[in-house]
Amino acid sequence: MTTTFAPLTTLPAPAGYKAGDVLFLCGELFGRGYANGIVDEARAAGMTVIGATVGRRDGDGTLRPLTAEELAEAEANLGGRIINVPLEAGFDMEPGDDGLSPADRLKGAKPDDWATVPFSDDEIAGWRAKGAARFKGNLAQVVAKLEQLVPAGANVLFVHTMAGGIPRARFFMPLLNRVFKGTGDKYLPSERFWNSPVGKLCSASFDEVTADTFRHLLEATAVLRERTVAGGGTANYVAYGYHGCEVLIDGAYRWQSYTPYLQGWAKMRLEEIAAEAWKKGIGATVFNCPEIQTNSSALFLGVEISLYPLLSALEREGGGPVADEIRKRCAALLKEGASLDTLLKQANSYLASPLLAGFGELAAWPHHNTQEQAELMLDCSARLLGMNSDPKNVVCAELSRAVFKGVGRLMFDCSWQPQAPVLWLGHSIIARRLVSA
Ligand SMILES: NC(=O)c1ccc[n+]([C@@H]2O[C@H](COP(=O)([O-])OP(=O)(O)OC[C@H]3O[C@@H](n4cnc5c(N)ncnc54)[C@H](O)[C@@H]3O)[C@@H](O)[C@H]2O)c1
Repeated sequence: MTTTFAPLTTLPAPAGYKAGDVLFLCGELFGRGYANGIVDEARAAGMTVIGATVGRRDGDGTLRPLTAEELAEAEANLGGRIINVPLEAGFDMEPGDDGLSPADRLKGAKPDDWATVPFSDDEIAGWRAKGAARFKGNLAQVVAKLEQLVPAGANVLFVHTMAGGIPRARFFMPLLNRVFKGTGDKYLPSERFWNSPVGKLCSASFDEVTADTFRHLLEATAVLRERTVAGGGTANYVAYGYHGCEVLIDGAYRWQSYTPYLQGWAKMRLEEIAAEAWKKGIGATVFNCPEIQTNSSALFLGVEISLYPLLSALEREGGGPVADEIRKRCAALLKEGASLDTLLKQANSYLASPLLAGFGELAAWPHHNTQEQAELMLDCSARLLGMNSDPKNVVCAELSRAVFKGVGRLMFDCSWQPQAPVLWLGHSIIARRLVSA
């Protein structure tokens, strides 16, 4: 698929969802993730929120539903019922024909030997097929229950939030730390890692968890979707993508991206799945969202640098009480002697650095890293994070909350009358949404 950059430029009209309509969240809700924004919107509109769980793995590796206690906690967090069938996707713990999963195979492997740890394409395909079959079987059970919970005539909004797939083996952590956080002798080029057999294992795992689950969701809910539409309701789908983001750099909105975003190929596959569904008349939209700090982005140190210019975007799009409040809260988190102006200048000097010129081409995305780029980014990230007085309560967390709130509202409203299979939500429209709220 050729990528056509399609940023959302106009605030959508408010969605018409009402009490009795249903939001189904395909993916578990955690404390500070993107999905919180749209779930809050659904609750405010009086919709019934129904959620899913990834399930849990017992000590022996068995995948199970939540216990009664875990379920009560998860439902309280969601503010809605959870259909308690484990929707873990992927195959990292899926036993192959010989009884061994990819994670088993990596037990005892030394991270230093990463380049020669063997995985064949056929083996990966075998595990992948088994994992997909398990996921689809469990998803069918979830959807059967969901069908009973959606009242006749209700509108349904399906929200896909799943992403991930780093195989759960100790082997990976030191290795990925070198790819994403390594400097000096520790630096490992993302391209070398990605082209190795363990890189190929990751790639297939990312595709399965981040992209193919969306296809499985579209297929599994076909009957519910058709029933809903036949009854006069809407049945639309939204998913969270990432494909770089426009932020203010040197005073103008410019597309940029975190590098190396190794999930990028899976995210483009997600876009393709939405485009295919769109051609069949299904309202499915992938919203490419800005970089924020969540449980899932913690490994990607430096991803948060492009979040800081949101403060400038809030001013550019009109400022006012909401912008003032966010700025005030951010300023209160800084160490004595640090200021938001210095923070913004330093973030801008990274984003505008001539060293990043080669990474600015959308058509060549996702880019692999270089040692100079990685070191510049990691150094800037550390300096900016070091300006917070409490490392556990940082400016980026405050800005992340603002972004997922704005994105949640935009996705919610856009889902009512879908516009396109792929849309980018940049800082400009998000800031405009926040200041006009
Ligand atoms: N954080 C960012 O900077 C950013 C930027 C753009 C888009 N996104 C996207 O937003 C979405 C939500 O991510 P988030 O950053 O809010 O983090 P999050 O950790 O809150 O959400 C990740 C979701 O993926 C699910 N998940 C993870 N591994 C899974 C597996 N093996 N099987 C099934 N489900 C699995 C989790 O249950 C959770 O629902 C993701 O699609 C992510 O790629 C994030």
